[in-house]
Amino acid sequence: MKTLQQRAIDVLNKNWKDTFSIPCANLYPFQWFWDSGLIAIGFAHFDMPKAEKEIETLLDAQWDNGFIPHIIFHTETDTYFPGADFHKSSLHPQSSKKYKSTGMTQPPVTGFVLKELYDTSNNKKASLAFVQSVIDKVYHNHKYFYNKRDPQDEGLVYIYHNWESGTDNSPIWDDIWKTMNPPDYTFERRDTTHVDASERPSKREYDHYLHIIEIAKANNYDDAKIAELSPFLVQDPLFNAVLIKSNKCLIELYELLGGNDDKIGQLKKWQDKAVKSFNNKLFDKEVGAYIHYDLRNEKPLPYLSSSSFAPLFAGIPSPERAEKMVQTMMKKFGGDHQYLCASFDPTSERFNPKKYWRGPVWVNLNWMLYKGLISYGYNDIAARVKEDTIALIEKNGFYEYFDSRKEMHTDGSGGYGGNDFSWSAALLIDLLSKD
Ligand code: GLC
Repeated sequence: MKTLQQRAIDVLNKNWKDTFSIPCANLYPFQWFWDSGLIAIGFAHFDMPKAEKEIETLLDAQWDNGFIPHIIFHTETDTYFPGADFHKSSLHPQSSKKYKSTGMTQPPVTGFVLKELYDTSNNKKASLAFVQSVIDKVYHNHKYFYNKRDPQDEGLVYIYHNWESGTDNSPIWDDIWKTMNPPDYTFERRDTTHVDASERPSKREYDHYLHIIEIAKANNYDDAKIAELSPFLVQDPLFNAVLIKSNKCLIELYELLGGNDDKIGQLKKWQDKAVKSFNNKLFDKEVGAYIHYDLRNEKPLPYLSSSSFAPLFAGIPSPERAEKMVQTMMKKFGGDHQYLCASFDPTSERFNPKKYWRGPVWVNLNWMLYKGLISYGYNDIAARVKEDTIALIEKNGFYEYFDSRKEMHTDGSGGYGGNDFSWSAALLIDLLSKD
């Protein structure tokens, strides 16, 4: 019988495609931004050259303006919709000439991923040389965000599409769909030929997704135009927490490298402003955690999701606030009948324990939560997050997402979406390496 760790290694090796990894076979056949970073964290434990190559390939697809796309279409296939021909990244004058991609991005994990690779490496000198060879590209990416995605100069960046959030089908977006009335497009979905339709978004939801892209395309993916015209413009606590965590790691890495005072100074300026605004604008006392803000319609979106706790990972809340957040989490997400941590408030009527980001547990969010809880000294709850994550994978396999209700895990059918999913394997390897 193979160990869980060996099985995880097999998943990663199987999804490796010479210079990058796919998230999983069939459903996601290309390279995805935040998947790629999180996958590299797993590879770092047993195959550092692959971890580094994964990041190099990702950064090779960076646009001249610093932007990194959410999907890089390395191959031609009609098994995925919407593909390269729909997105038409070449509309943007600074897009990559080498790779076709989408014109949207994803949570900017690369900064903290570089630090994870360095921390895991047992050859610090070689690892630092690798960091030196790529770090300026990551800095350029952060510069893009602060210069192009912060129209009110608050230190908080916007996302213009739900697919930029990474939490693609969260019920939080329902409020935004209510403000839109997109055309009824004709298209052929591919995701529902690979997984059960009850675990995926509806046709009408897809109309909204496509409509936002059509508006961006009509404006050649120009950031200023998108900020002016996109019906979806949101400050997302997960996305901004990831950026802040990555800022922090870039500062630490530049300090290790030495001689980068200008960049360190700039990163610290972005960071101070970002953390202040984040705390002033995105914390909701009644919810008891951080929430999203709808910048298009200038209103808070007061819903509790696993993204609400991501700021712990970036060291954003004060200890008092962190305490309040942990209480909120344990009260609503942490009962004895539940696995930590559902992706959406289990007490809400919008909660759906089977559907893509509307309730199931995701390994990447649990990994961030684990690290955040440890950094604030909540070691027992962190241990529970780790145990729950391992139990979900042991009982079901390396699925994309899992039912949070314990009673659903009696016969190994509590895992949903894609199977042999790369970041579930990668982050499990990392979690197993921690005490
Ligand atoms: C889904 C997830 C997204 C992920 C992608 C590839 O679309 O919502 O976060 O990056 O799959 O795994």
